[in-house]
Amino acid sequence: MSDLHWTDATDASSVPEDDVIGLQLAGHDIALYKVEGDIFATDNICTHGHARLCDGFLEGHEIECPMHQGRFDVRDGRATCAPVTEDLRRYPVRIENGRVFLQLGS
Ligand code: FES
Repeated sequence: MSDLHWTDATDASSVPEDDVIGLQLAGHDIALYKVEGDIFATDNICTHGHARLCDGFLEGHEIECPMHQGRFDVRDGRATCAPVTEDLRRYPVRIENGRVFLQLGS
């Protein structure tokens, strides 16, 4: 695993099961989700307005925005329910030695 491409984000145990947390990482506002033991990462800011998805409601693999109840699939960032139409950016996740690493890109 190259440190050039993977950024150490947090302890895997800090993400509660079936829940979402927000964190600031290298200038990115990130939402981390844990569903059925798997961790997913997307941008934390809704593509419809300036709402933080970590304040929303996670149901299965969908996060519901707290402002207008638009929804995204946390696995790929896909917009799944109006009024959102623009997908969220997602970040590749790796778990190593109990730590969460994200590929933030540019
Ligand atoms: Fe998220 Fe409007 S700000 S749905």
